[in-house]
Amino acid sequence: MRARGPGRVNLIGEHTDYNGGLALPFAIALGVTVVAEPLAAELVEVEALDLGERDAFPLDHVKRVAGWRAYARGLVAELRPACGMRLSIEADLPRGAGLSSSAALSTALALAILALDGREMERLELARVCSRVENDWVGASSGLLDQLAVLFCQEEHALRIDFRSLELRQVLLDLRGWTLATLDSGVARENAASGYNERYEECARARELLGVEWLSAASPADVAELPEPLARRARFVLEENARVDAAAAALAGGELPELARLLDASHAGLRDLYEVSTAEVEAAVEAMKRAGAAGARLIGGGFGGSVLGLFPPGAVLPPGALTVEPAGPAHLI
Ligand code: GLA
Repeated sequence: MRARGPGRVNLIGEHTDYNGGLALPFAIALGVTVVAEPLAAELVEVEALDLGERDAFPLDHVKRVAGWRAYARGLVAELRPACGMRLSIEADLPRGAGLSSSAALSTALALAILALDGREMERLELARVCSRVENDWVGASSGLLDQLAVLFCQEEHALRIDFRSLELRQVLLDLRGWTLATLDSGVARENAASGYNERYEECARARELLGVEWLSAASPADVAELPEPLARRARFVLEENARVDAAAAALAGGELPELARLLDASHAGLRDLYEVSTAEVEAAVEAMKRAGAAGARLIGGGFGGSVLGLFPPGAVLPPGALTVEPAGPAHLI
């Protein structure tokens, strides 16, 4: 059995997922491929071909370990396949580049394990399982953005996700000759080891103080009363949330300069209010701007990773930039 999980680019709507807000990601062609083959023994063997590393553990007694090994271990413990297997992982998506290499890996692993086990699982349930593995086995308090994006995005479209209702809507990503490109800041990041969990905790604290179930439901006036840094974190969440539908409207109306302005505003908020940018990320944004990007922002959790730039027709991308186009969801090959 062979399965493929794509990476994703989040057009806009950062740090809104665990705050019950909105986001607008799309899947990309780069991703992770997993091959699952049956083993006679009650054993799971895993090989990460790109890293040249291996793992092996008994099927019925999965111990916790850190790093990439946590994904296969967590999924085997969650999905409980009946037979032993050998899993090999091959990736053309850079790790830690803010392009959701973890969800690409976990969805490809999950689809391959289930297929070998002769089972299917509803995609929303699968997203929850992969997210649980990220939370409980990998140790990142991340929301559902990456898993939903990777499992539900369709070619030529971005996916508008409402994390409160889990309503999913395909939004045509018609760039009218403009180009979206990513540029790696050169600093690899992992949610579990960055300041990501701290931001999650700050939002949880703000929610508690405001007495709301979701931060995205709070009023700007109440948010302004919070102690710092919670006030600026929550203000970012409200403003970023509003930018998602503004971006969808700009796309629908073919207003690409307005979309670029929203990307810039998102980045300014991530840098100044949510404080998840770094010197290397700022340098990457600058490089995009110098090359003529009309708008550019960091994508994903922050503290490193990639930036996204929106270029008008005819622009020459900066060295190392990668054109990204909306691709299809995780699937069996
Ligand atoms: C990471 C997490 C997501 C989301 C983004 C920020 O990619 O995995 O759940 O919170 O950061 O939008």
